[in-house]
Amino acid sequence: MRVAVIGQGYVGLVTAACLGEWGHEVVGIDADAAKMARLQAGQSPIREPGLDELIERHLDDGLLHFSSDIRAVSAAQLVMVAVGTTDADGGWQTGTMRAALNDVVPLVSDDGVLAIRSTLPPEFVRQLPAFVGAIREANGLAPIPVMLNPEFTRESTAVSDFLTPDRVVIGIASDPSGRGLKVMRRLYHEIDAPVVVLKAVDACLAKLASNLFLATKISFANEMAALCDAFGGTVDEVVAAVGLDPRIGPAFLRAGIGFGGSCLPHQVRMVSRMGDALGIQTPLISAVHQVNERQRTQFVDRLREQLGGSLAGRRIALLGLTFKPNTDDLREAPALTIAELMLAEGAEVCAYDPAPGVYARVAAILPGLYFAPSWREALDGADAVGLVTEWPELVALDWEAAAGLMRQRIVVDGRNVLSVARLVDAGFTYVGFGRGVASLEDGVGLAGAAIDHPAPSALRATMLTGARPVAAEQ
Ligand code: UDX
Repeated sequence: MRVAVIGQGYVGLVTAACLGEWGHEVVGIDADAAKMARLQAGQSPIREPGLDELIERHLDDGLLHFSSDIRAVSAAQLVMVAVGTTDADGGWQTGTMRAALNDVVPLVSDDGVLAIRSTLPPEFVRQLPAFVGAIREANGLAPIPVMLNPEFTRESTAVSDFLTPDRVVIGIASDPSGRGLKVMRRLYHEIDAPVVVLKAVDACLAKLASNLFLATKISFANEMAALCDAFGGTVDEVVAAVGLDPRIGPAFLRAGIGFGGSCLPHQVRMVSRMGDALGIQTPLISAVHQVNERQRTQFVDRLREQLGGSLAGRRIALLGLTFKPNTDDLREAPALTIAELMLAEGAEVCAYDPAPGVYARVAAILPGLYFAPSWREALDGADAVGLVTEWPELVALDWEAAAGLMRQRIVVDGRNVLSVARLVDAGFTYVGFGRGVASLEDGVGLAGAAIDHPAPSALRATMLTGARPVAAEQ
């Protein structure tokens, strides 16, 4: 099938490249001519595992093209639109979508189909068929089917999420002849997963609901972490036990500094705002947002507390800047808020990220931040280290060597991914989220040690002589 994908950001580019895998002929279209020229030469603007290979393969076999010429849509049987719908302030905006539709809809052939892949505000979904119909009519053209096809891909696994999805959701905004649904089913004929066909507003709400639920699970885990810290519990153990219940499941229950990225924070905030604006009560979603914001502040609170009540003049190593590992995406990255808070308190913050390509972008936002070419340089002479993004190489770094480089051995683990026992054994005071505080000196709050088996001998000795029941049970 001949497909045009309008908008070559994360969503559009992954869609275009992956469709080549199923033998579709795809043209990726974006107004940014320089970006399209680079893509046509095989250079991807984003870091996404597996994407470069797909682009190269389908440029080579001629299934994939990139163009900044919107007229390329006229040859397509299916035109997918994947332009941005968020504003700089975390709200919805439909201006870009409306402008794209004004340009694209008159060029879609009479036997073409339009499918929106962007996340849309439900209000706009209701207006969509009339909006598209009016453009067709004003240009003296026949109506075309209007479909929704929300995406559920995660960054860093977007290619495999696309090619082997859990489900495909198709929303019908306007499809009196059934041609739209037929074309969408043909598009996905290769997949081995349920294809859920819904009316458009339900497809839109299903997309929102998925992300809102994931965000709720994370904030719930963070709330449990606060209880664990208060009562000497270990959140990892608690959620592992809870997640065995198939009605709950283990995914998205990792406590820490909370969710970032382009989808979860925006959609939580947008739904909360939309509720306020329309008089719809969404207290649960508002609380999910509040908990998420609080986690970032708590990360800084933990560092300050371990450093005797002030960050002024302290040197802090910040490990990880991107919102999650294996991406170079900084959108809503918790590291940015955390670094900003620490700089405002007079700390000297030196960041290291395994994707150093992000440094220039971060420097433009946070001019006071230092950047290190390696983790060793970030940690050299630091009073404390904060792990913000769980890149595998940061989790697995040589923590014994790290301890030797630092002025004080304090670590705040923003992702609950480090081995408490190993860090304590290396001489660190360890603080996570819902894992207590662990150190060799005072044996305070050794809750986290319970999850590390076998515990190193020095830590075990402290645990066994400690009065805490968790130690006695080992
Ligand atoms: C998300 C949705 O998962 C995806 O379905 C949708 O299409 C786009 O938005 P993405 O933003 O790529 O994907 O990242 P995701 O893997 O969902 O993680 C979002 C954030 O939550 C990250 O900052 C991650 O670190 C955090 N997270 C995730 C937690 O804090 N705890 C967890 O248990 C899981």
